[in-house]
Amino acid sequence: SAIPMITIDGPTASGKGTIAHRVAQALGWAVLDSGALYRLAALAVIDGGIDPGDQAAVARAAQGLDVRFDADRIWMGGADVAARIREERVGNLASKIAAYPALRQALLERQRAFRRPPGLVADGRDMGTVVFADAPLKIFLVADVEARAQRRCKQLKEKGFSANLADLLQDMRERDARDRNRAHAPLVAAPDARTIDSSNLSVEATVKQVLDLWSSLG
Ligand code: C5P
Repeated sequence: SAIPMITIDGPTASGKGTIAHRVAQALGWAVLDSGALYRLAALAVIDGGIDPGDQAAVARAAQGLDVRFDADRIWMGGADVAARIREERVGNLASKIAAYPALRQALLERQRAFRRPPGLVADGRDMGTVVFADAPLKIFLVADVEARAQRRCKQLKEKGFSANLADLLQDMRERDARDRNRAHAPLVAAPDARTIDSSNLSVEATVKQVLDLWSSLG
């Protein structure tokens, strides 16, 4: 596809979402938060009383997802579920069912449909390796697990939730391990990806690095 796009992959809480939004805003492009689709599938499994161990049933639920993204809202079956998909149990289930090849396959075309002019910034785990393997710019955004846990902790507290740094660290390590070690579409940098370590970078500086890389492609 000749439609411009940038992929941003990386581990949990590496800042992908924030960076993707800022970069898209700067370029006037759309954003795909692919993790939201895995979370929506998890929510459909929970709400539909589906056995999370039944891979075929989970994939069918994802295939049948009736979702609409509308700015900050995510409509599923007539309700705004944007807040619910951020719940801990939903994220946890998403991280587990994300290992199912049938589920990943069911979400593939839905993700690719987001690539429309004038451009797309897509964030996730396998954007540059699988879903948009032909993207002209691929970013692998990393940060120390401690830096990521601290950011997540701060975010949660700002939103009024209680958060414990040790628990977050433990949870993050488990999720990263699941994403990195799964057989199908594991979290790994594409061979042609540019790695950015944001451990000691501000959001602005990280966004600038991505935009500079995009400009340098001409
Ligand atoms: O990024 P986020 O935490 O919202 O994603 C939820 C889960 O979905 C992740 O823990 C990961 O296991 C899975 N995921 C994935 N591939 C993507 C995006 C998310 O496997 N492209």
